[in-house]
Amino acid sequence: MNALLKPISDTHADSDAALALAQASRRGLQRMLQALFREHLLHREHLIVEGRVAWLPLWPQQAMLRFEGLQLGRIGDCRIDGTIAWFRSGQGPQPITTASALLACIAPSLPGQPAAEDVQRLVQELDNSLDNDVLCLRYRQSWAPQLVDSFGPVHEHFIAALRLSGHANPALLLEQWGTLGHPWHPTFKTKLGLSQEEVKALSPEFQAQLDVPLAALRATRAQVAFAGDETGYRTWFARTFPQAWGRWENALRAAGEEAAAWLPLPLHPYQAARQIPQQFAADIARGDLLLLQDAAIAATPTMSFRTVVPEGSPALPHMKLPVSLRLTSVQRTVSPKSAVMGPRLTRLLRTIVEREAGFGGVLDIVHEDVGVHYIDPDGNDDRARHLAILYRANPMAKRTLELFPIPVGSLFADSPFSGRPLVTELVALACGDDAAGAVAFFRRYAATVLGATLSSYLLYGIAFEAHQQNSFIMVNERYEPVQLLARDFGDLRVHGPTLRAAGLTLEAYRPGHTVYETDEPVRDKLLHAVLLCHVVELALLLSRTYGHPQARYWGVLRQEVELAFERLRGRADPSRWETERRALLEEDWPAKSFLRMRLSDTSDDVHGTMPNPLKTTP
Ligand SMILES: Nc1ncnc2c1ncn2[C@@H]1O[C@H](COP(=O)(O)OP(=O)(O)O)[C@@H](O)[C@H]1O
Ligand SMILES: [Mg+2]
Repeated sequence: MNALLKPISDTHADSDAALALAQASRRGLQRMLQALFREHLLHREHLIVEGRVAWLPLWPQQAMLRFEGLQLGRIGDCRIDGTIAWFRSGQGPQPITTASALLACIAPSLPGQPAAEDVQRLVQELDNSLDNDVLCLRYRQSWAPQLVDSFGPVHEHFIAALRLSGHANPALLLEQWGTLGHPWHPTFKTKLGLSQEEVKALSPEFQAQLDVPLAALRATRAQVAFAGDETGYRTWFARTFPQAWGRWENALRAAGEEAAAWLPLPLHPYQAARQIPQQFAADIARGDLLLLQDAAIAATPTMSFRTVVPEGSPALPHMKLPVSLRLTSVQRTVSPKSAVMGPRLTRLLRTIVEREAGFGGVLDIVHEDVGVHYIDPDGNDDRARHLAILYRANPMAKRTLELFPIPVGSLFADSPFSGRPLVTELVALACGDDAAGAVAFFRRYAATVLGATLSSYLLYGIAFEAHQQNSFIMVNERYEPVQLLARDFGDLRVHGPTLRAAGLTLEAYRPGHTVYETDEPVRDKLLHAVLLCHVVELALLLSRTYGHPQARYWGVLRQEVELAFERLRGRADPSRWETERRALLEEDWPAKSFLRMRLSDTSDDVHGTMPNPLKTTP
């Protein structure tokens, strides 16, 4: 149809769609370029800069990339506010608008010249991420005005309006609104294997409403772990989910089974429909697993996609469910290791938090209370990881008159009221909405998160994986950050010698996992998750938003790390204190290489290094 003859509503829809595509493409390109430079797949030293334009020669292709408005920061953080074009000898410029197009152009010039099938696989992952991000942005175009209608009358700031509104579960709404995806991954929205309809029906950023079917697992084929004193999973489940338990018992009876021989096992709807019937056909035939009709719990997903909230409740435990799909980077199953270690780590961390009174109140944790996993007849954990569950306490239960939990990832999302990052609302409420207020807010924020994480790390050897998606920041009545609420112990790392020196022990599920005898793997986790992906990303966001030089934030962060160390001097082992202080403030930092990992299709950590961004130049 001729565009001029289109009805007005169609034209609106077209321009909204074009806007979403443009925004998503730009986000994808930004993450991709950042990863390319950060991982030394492209070299910033080769850039030839002429004012706002930068040229990057590529060998052996004899080609050039031309960037307009490219800025690269201290940790290889990248912004681009102009066009990117590809020049090849004898050909005119070719505009590059997507991450996958960029990869396809430059692949022959990447180190090691990746194989065509590796490039092709990554191109697909990048395109899938882009498609899903477009869907997400389209949905937000109508979701934002709804939030303005619902909460606008309550307060000028969305966060305050939500807190004051009487909404049953503000933290969950913020998680769903704040699901932007990992800040470093070029494939931050990839969900390979789902149709667009399925993406919308299952993902948090569309406020998906799920039916989580309850299967029955033969009790003798299940391993159960508790953090508390409970002894029976069936009793615990019946007490925690009485109605669902009733439906499950009825369904078992209707199937002619005796409930006493079985345990209820919630399944992710994707898993129940598409994975389990085939993958566990033999186990079903053997009578170890029963897929029941008419027994389900309604649930809605958190930022992680596969951890879901029963009935959107602010009190019931969250359920972390295996989903045998590649989401962002890896298959999101729940390993027997996590089902066992979650409760075990919860016991350890609870002891530490109690003993230390949360290090002056700056640390609290979200308990992983119950884990269940299938015992594969051949002892194969790689099968068992598809049939497991971890029940985690509800972070909203931590809300008090004084404290209010905010998922850290949501601070990076735009406010539906103003279109500015949500963190600016906290800045405005707590410190004043200007550059000085932002720095003051950041100082308080960094002191809180560093107090929590560096105390655990130096005194007990615990490195939380407290990145944006695994962290809540608790604010007080004045919206000042006062506590880190850490969740997800699946990838937490412990320095064994430090824990033992503190008089505590942790039995690892398997040697070589969770507990490490050397410093680096534990420190890498702290630096990558807590500092780079969380605190530093927040600093960069505030610096950008308030138009204030990054250097100011690096200075504040360095001071706060120094202060956190000073507070722990005398308590931490002196040689550990020295070594870690030097590692954090002077030596190179690790840089996790997500793009290299995807190019070589591995989920094992690949790390490069970066110059220490906190190091003061002499
Ligand atoms: N801001 C973010 N930072 C990190 N991961 C994020 C972010 N937003 C969404 N995610 C997604 O969260 C998922 C990780 O959650 P996961 O650790 O599996 O569950 P849980 O934290 O509930 O145990 C990944 O797929 C990742 O892409
Ligand atoms: Mg997580």
